[in-house]
Amino acid sequence: MGKTPEGQLKPTLGLYDATAIGIGAIIGAGIFVVTGIAAGLAGPALVISMVVAAFVSLFTALSFVELTAWLPTEGGVYEYASRLFSPFAGFLAGWMWVVSYIFVGPAVSLAFSYYFTALVPIVDSRLVAAVICVVFTLLNYAGIRHSAAFNNMLVLAKVLILLVFSAVGLFYLKASNFTPFMTSATGVFYGAYFIFFAYSGFARIAVLAEEVKDAKRVVPRSIVLALLTSTAIYLLVGVVAVGLIGAENLGKSKSPLAEAISAVGSPALTYVVSLGGLLATASVLLTSILGVSRMAFAMARNGDLPSVLSKLHSRYGTPYYSILIVGSIMIVLTVSADLTGVVAVSTFASLFYYALANVSALRLKADVRVYPKILPAVGLATCLILMAFVQPSALAIGAVCLATGAIYYMIKSTSWKM
Ligand code: ALA
Repeated sequence: MGKTPEGQLKPTLGLYDATAIGIGAIIGAGIFVVTGIAAGLAGPALVISMVVAAFVSLFTALSFVELTAWLPTEGGVYEYASRLFSPFAGFLAGWMWVVSYIFVGPAVSLAFSYYFTALVPIVDSRLVAAVICVVFTLLNYAGIRHSAAFNNMLVLAKVLILLVFSAVGLFYLKASNFTPFMTSATGVFYGAYFIFFAYSGFARIAVLAEEVKDAKRVVPRSIVLALLTSTAIYLLVGVVAVGLIGAENLGKSKSPLAEAISAVGSPALTYVVSLGGLLATASVLLTSILGVSRMAFAMARNGDLPSVLSKLHSRYGTPYYSILIVGSIMIVLTVSADLTGVVAVSTFASLFYYALANVSALRLKADVRVYPKILPAVGLATCLILMAFVQPSALAIGAVCLATGAIYYMIKSTSWKM
């Protein structure tokens, strides 16, 4: 992991690399697949759902700006909530971070399989999803990690493909696809809940803060830059996708952007967009397994999770128990759950730890505060409001995960005291 002789992580990433890591974590299954689910709920007003989700993300991102400017440290919200609120809050933040990404894994694996089977219809999509999840777990086990240069290339490819989608699609929009524009205001909020999934990952660079040069300045800027860039691309893609085939058709499709661009009548373009779907989902899957296993590793090293999770592989230097356990749960969910369900649980868990990030920012002392307290307060309120649009089944699963974490923490704390 690039350690200096003193055991500190070596800062090698600049503003461009850091922003690309953010965009790399953001653009994936959300825009390529969840757009369809959100369009089904919001109708042509999908773009309003995207704006609502972007606002929630932006206020929370500003809290991360304050937190990372105060203390650029590996561990992100797990560290912040623990230092600024309580060790229990820190544990719950880390725990729900792990839960959220455990559910991102099957979501992006299934999304990958939908674009794969759009290109190669003869194979079973569930099988493809399971295979990709197994392969990426093994790659992580063997210590495969994007280099910053490779990540920059991948991000450039994803962004370019979405820009080509938008630029070409703009010439084929049908005005009738935008009317009636908003059929249900609550549908827009339910849509925003789902499309929020597409934004999650904007604070990923916070967990790599010690690897960034001039971190106090660069990390906060890269968080905002990554979020604004992704938001601009999403709004463009959202308008074009609805304009091409209409919200109803997007809602019925498993690979909505490929379906939308096929209206242009160029098989080559449909192929390129499908390739974009594969690249975007595969890269998010690789970094999700990496991220979640490293968080579990960090929590285990602090004594917050069983110590076996912090064991490093003698040859690959990877936290292999963490990777195998996380990967196995993802594989089970990939073969058994549906995409809508895993996205809903992941979003619930991420809104929970983003809420804790806002609470942490609220507790920063006045002399280190960058913005007035109203901003993290709005961040917290918007996370909680969006959470209210969770589906009952996802709420139940999310609550069980949260309760399991809380009970584990209490048992661990009492057994230590005895
Ligand atoms: N934002 C990430 C994605 O859309 C989780 O895949």
